[in-house]
Amino acid sequence: MGENKNAKLTFGDKEIDLPILEGSIGPDVIDVSQLYAKSNAFTYDPGFTSTASCESKITYIDGDEGVLMYRGYPIDELARESDFLEVCYLLLYGELPNADEKAKFTNGITYHTMVHDQMRGLFKGFRRDAHPMSIMVGVVGALSAYYQDSLDINDPHQRMVASYRLIAKMPTIAAMAYKYSIGQPFEYPQNNLGYAENFLHMAFSVPCEEYKPSATLVRAMDRIFTLHADHEQNASTSTVRLASSSGANPFACIAAGIACLWGPAHGGANEAVLDMLKEIGDKERIPEFVAKAKDKDDPFRLMGFGHRVYKNYDPRAKVMQETCHEVLGELGMSDDPLLELAMELERIALEDEYFVEKKLYPNIDFYSGITLRAMGFPESMFTVLFALARTVGWVAQWNEMIEDPKQKIGRPRQLYTGATERPFVGVSDR
Ligand code: SDX
Repeated sequence: MGENKNAKLTFGDKEIDLPILEGSIGPDVIDVSQLYAKSNAFTYDPGFTSTASCESKITYIDGDEGVLMYRGYPIDELARESDFLEVCYLLLYGELPNADEKAKFTNGITYHTMVHDQMRGLFKGFRRDAHPMSIMVGVVGALSAYYQDSLDINDPHQRMVASYRLIAKMPTIAAMAYKYSIGQPFEYPQNNLGYAENFLHMAFSVPCEEYKPSATLVRAMDRIFTLHADHEQNASTSTVRLASSSGANPFACIAAGIACLWGPAHGGANEAVLDMLKEIGDKERIPEFVAKAKDKDDPFRLMGFGHRVYKNYDPRAKVMQETCHEVLGELGMSDDPLLELAMELERIALEDEYFVEKKLYPNIDFYSGITLRAMGFPESMFTVLFALARTVGWVAQWNEMIEDPKQKIGRPRQLYTGATERPFVGVSDR
C-alpha cells in the first residue's frame, strides 16, 4: 500500500495532518487511526458508509462500474471459465492453482467432507420445522466441540486445517440440515464426486434409487457457489472479522457470520425475493408494490434490488440471470410464472425514475432464489446455500486478518447523547 500526501483537518484551533493511503486500485483512504489522539474527537459513520475497516488483497468491488474481482480476476470470467474449488484455492492462496496444486487441494477438501459421526445426534435436538439457518448457526458453532485440534488461531497449520474443514464440511452440514427438515436419512459424501455434485447428491439422493443430476444442474450449482464466494467487507464478513479479532475460534466466528447473513437485508434476501414475488402474485399488481417500495412511510422494500456498494448492475446478477434461464430451460420451466413476474418487475423498476435516481439495480439475490427453487430447494434453504458458498470468503478474510500485523481487537467508539451524570434517587423518592 503506497503512502503519500496528507489530508489536513482544521478542528477548533488545531490543524491536523492525516496520512492519505493509496491502494492498487480504488479510492484512497484517509488514515484516522491517530485522530482521537490528535483531536480528542471520533469519526462518526453509522453503517460504515465511508469507512474502510481494513486493508485487503482478496476481493475488489467498483460499485459505480459494476466490477467484482477475486484476486484481480473478473467474476464473470471465473464463473464461466473456472470452477468453485479453483476459486476457493484462489481466494485462500492468492493465485489460481496449477494442475498439481488443484489436484492436491481437491484431495484435501474431499477427505474432510465427512463430519464426526456424533454430530448426527445434534440434529435430534432441533424440531423438524426448525429453519435450516437456525441449525446451521448451531451445528457450525458446535464444530469447535468436535475439532479441538484446529482451534489455535496463532498456529498457521491449525488455521489451514480449520479452513479446509469448514470449506469441506459446510455442504455436508447444509445437506444434513435439509434432510433433517424433510425427514429423510442423511446421505454420506461420496469421494468420487466433485464438490457441487457431491452436495447435490447429499441433498437429493435417497437410499432407494440411483441419483444422477444433469451436467447443467451440477454446473449451475458450482457457478452459484462461485458467484457467492466472497464480497469484500459485507456485513457477515465484517462480523467474522470482528468476532475473530477477539481471538475466538474459527468455528465460532463462522457461526457468527452465518447468523449475520441470515438477515433479509443481507443473505436472507434470496428467500425474501421469492416471498415477495409470491405476494405480488400477478403482473397487474407490480405497480402497487413498486409504489409501496417508494413510499417513505412504508417499510416495504423491493427485495433483490439495491446494494450498499453497487450503484450499477450487480455483475453477479447478470451471470445469475443467465444461469437462471439455463436451468429453467433444462427443466422445461422457461415459462415459470415467477420468472416471468420477476422479469416484468425488473423491467418496470429499471424504468422507474425513483429506482433510476437512487441507482437501485437487481442484485445477486434477485435471480438466485428462482433458480434454486427450480433446482428443487425449498426457500428455507436459499440462505443456507449462500452461507455454504460464502464460507470460503469468510475463511480467506479471517486468515488475512490474523496474518495482518496491524490487526487488533475491533472496538468502535460512539457519539454519546444519553443522560449526563446525576445522583441516584431511592425508590421511595421516585
Ligand atoms: C447482499 O454488502 C454486500 O456485499 C452484500 C451482498 C454480499 O454478497 O455479501 O452483496 C449480499 O446482501 C445483497 C443485498 C440483498 N438485500 C436486498 O436485496 C434487500 C433489499 N435491499 C435494501 O434493503 C438495500 O438496498 C440494502 C440494504 C441492500 C442496501 O441499503 P443501503 O445501501 O444501506 O442504502 P439505504 O438502505 O440507505 O438505501 C438508499 C436509499 C434509501 O432511500 P432514501 O432514504 O435515500 O430516501 O434507497 C432506498 C432506501 O429507502 N432503497 C430502496 C431499496 N434499497 C434501497 N427502496 C426500495 N427498495 C429497495 N430495495
